[in-house]
Amino acid sequence: MAQNVAGRPPVADLDQEQAAAEIADLSAQVADANTAYHGQDAPVIPDAEYDAAKARLAQLEDAFPALARPDSPTMQVGAAPSEGFGKIAHSQRMMSLGNAFSPEDVHDFLGRIRSFLGLGVDAPLQVTAEPKIDGLSLSLRYEKGRLVQAATRGDGAVGENVTANACTITDIPQKLTGDVPDILEVRGEVYMTHADFEKLNNTDGGRVFANPRNAAAGSLRQNDSAVTASRPLRFFAYSWGEVSQPLAPTQMQAVERLQALGFQTNPLTRLCDTADQLIDVWSSIEQQRATLGYDIDGVVYKVNDLAYQGRLGFRATTPRWAIAHKFPAETAWTRLDRIEIQVGRTGALSPVARLEPVTVGGVVVSNATLHNEDYIAGRDNSGAAIREGRDIREGDWVKIYRAGDVIPKIADVDLSRRQDNSAPFIFPTLCPECGSEAIREPGDSIRRCTGGMICPAQAVEKLKHFVSRAAFDVDGLGAKQIEMFFADPSLPIREPADIFTLAERDKGQLARLKNRDGFGERSVEKLFAAIDDKRDIPLPRLIFALGIRHVGEVAATTLARHFGTWDALIAAIDAAANEPAFKAVDDKARRMALPDSPNWAELTGIDGIGAVLVNSLVTTFSQPAERDGIDRLLVQLSPQEMQSAASVETEVSGKTLVFTGTLERMSRAEAKARAEAMGAKVAGSVSAKTDLLIAGPGAGSKATKAADLGVKVIDEDEWLRIAGAT
Ligand code: IVH
Repeated sequence: MAQNVAGRPPVADLDQEQAAAEIADLSAQVADANTAYHGQDAPVIPDAEYDAAKARLAQLEDAFPALARPDSPTMQVGAAPSEGFGKIAHSQRMMSLGNAFSPEDVHDFLGRIRSFLGLGVDAPLQVTAEPKIDGLSLSLRYEKGRLVQAATRGDGAVGENVTANACTITDIPQKLTGDVPDILEVRGEVYMTHADFEKLNNTDGGRVFANPRNAAAGSLRQNDSAVTASRPLRFFAYSWGEVSQPLAPTQMQAVERLQALGFQTNPLTRLCDTADQLIDVWSSIEQQRATLGYDIDGVVYKVNDLAYQGRLGFRATTPRWAIAHKFPAETAWTRLDRIEIQVGRTGALSPVARLEPVTVGGVVVSNATLHNEDYIAGRDNSGAAIREGRDIREGDWVKIYRAGDVIPKIADVDLSRRQDNSAPFIFPTLCPECGSEAIREPGDSIRRCTGGMICPAQAVEKLKHFVSRAAFDVDGLGAKQIEMFFADPSLPIREPADIFTLAERDKGQLARLKNRDGFGERSVEKLFAAIDDKRDIPLPRLIFALGIRHVGEVAATTLARHFGTWDALIAAIDAAANEPAFKAVDDKARRMALPDSPNWAELTGIDGIGAVLVNSLVTTFSQPAERDGIDRLLVQLSPQEMQSAASVETEVSGKTLVFTGTLERMSRAEAKARAEAMGAKVAGSVSAKTDLLIAGPGAGSKATKAADLGVKVIDEDEWLRIAGAT
């Protein structure tokens, strides 16, 4: 029934009337397809066409905002039928993996591990290599050998309860026999083979899903487990979460035990001794990729010795002991319809290529990033030519590439197909959203809008960031809903605090709009409940949500760990802002090197927190408009105190430690990770707030300062005893 969108004219060539007709047509098609798909599980259009239609509709709505309908299907939250699933907090976080893209990255990965563990270049270090399955991860909890729970990854901390559906997958045993630990969480990937995917797409009247991964995800997240049962899903086990007894001393043996317990494990897994061997396995698996019968997108390397894995531990979201070595990006040619400038939450003007939708590696792509004005012009940050002088212009034929989940990029331009009347793109020097001047600071490749709070784009992007997954993550309040409320004159959300006053300001308005704007009475109640649920927000999420430049997830977690409470953080920032030295200079470059100012130094002394970040933090909190907004928000919230990383009280819980001099038996990186795991904070410099200085040979000024301040000093032996590493 759907009319293919591929042959339609570029959006830029349409007039208002043509656009209105097409929007009406596509909205109806997509809405019908949604009803058929979610309600009756009887898809009426192929998934690729559905994606393309929805992408085209979104393009049209972007280009003709006045024609965007409040009930547009692009406004609906979440394509998947996740309504009925309960949430499950993972007993151990489900991590993601860092990426390697080149042999050099693989050597660096092993180098970092050796350095962390203090292993010499010749010390043995075995690492496993196994295919990275392109499916969705699942955690299966067994108690006394019985499957009691299956949860999707979700945001890593909390997933969806899909137990009933997982029970229908034949690769997932419901009962384990033999030598089974009392508690065993098995983790692995749900996937669909190419053959099963083709079969599924060729039954029920046409193609259903764009690729096997979407098919696996859509099939697992069904409200009716009979539907999941009818879908040919499979499962490879490759990892584990909570276990009441260790499975084995090595990764390889642990996976063999999972196999002995009845799980499918990947037969291509190999044990290697060197980076070169890993790279050989990677090449060999890549060569077999087309004939494996299921999708993989790289090879995962894991340190084999589980004691080493334990010592290496995790960064914020990824293990230090594993990495995914990705296969090269997939590419496709398409036409670049137009270049648009998006204004981000920090005012950055980001050029985006709007493309004729094209399938790249099984995914429909209609946008690509263009980075900045130099990149469009064909220059890198230093002004040197890239793409051999080929600039990027509207109307050009461009080669798109997509590696894994990263935003698609443009790899090349086909000059032979360039139109005669094309002209170089002129990058705006005024903000396209608020008209304020957009300037480039020396050394910055990004042009930024100077409009601050008056720029609606910055305000709306700040709000979108605020509700995003790693921030407040409010169920039912995504980017589309934020745009809707931002533009709503009667019940607006203009700043984060407004989200939390929505219910009291509402007075039944939203419920009256039943079925308009994607809100029925039930979902209004749910939305208010979801908002209320977030008032006692974890501290790192709150700090990250504020969208302060340079304060990403990792820095937010570091600050939260260091200060423990919101009040302590604010007190430290205010103290730094009130220091005469900070007040005396308003030039960023000079602030970077502030003279001895103890409060400023306390912030910059936190390991992993640099002067650029501190400047951004202190400046933001001392701008009255920003500060008032934050204060209004905090009235609505009760931020959680940061729990110490250690689940048990240790000798150093809550204390601030500084390491100096050479540690001979434990690398500095491991010492820091170990201290944090025991609930301590690690700072880079000694101050009155330091509780303990661990001084190895060669300790210099820090030891002197500690002595002056009366800070307790211990040597490496004593540290190893505290850390339980002797
Ligand atoms: S190990 C702590 N092994 O890749 C590390 N992950 O990008 C746990 N994946 O979320 C993951 N194949 O869904 C591991 N052989 C494999 C994998 C694999 C696919 C997925 C997994 C994970 C994602 C990270």
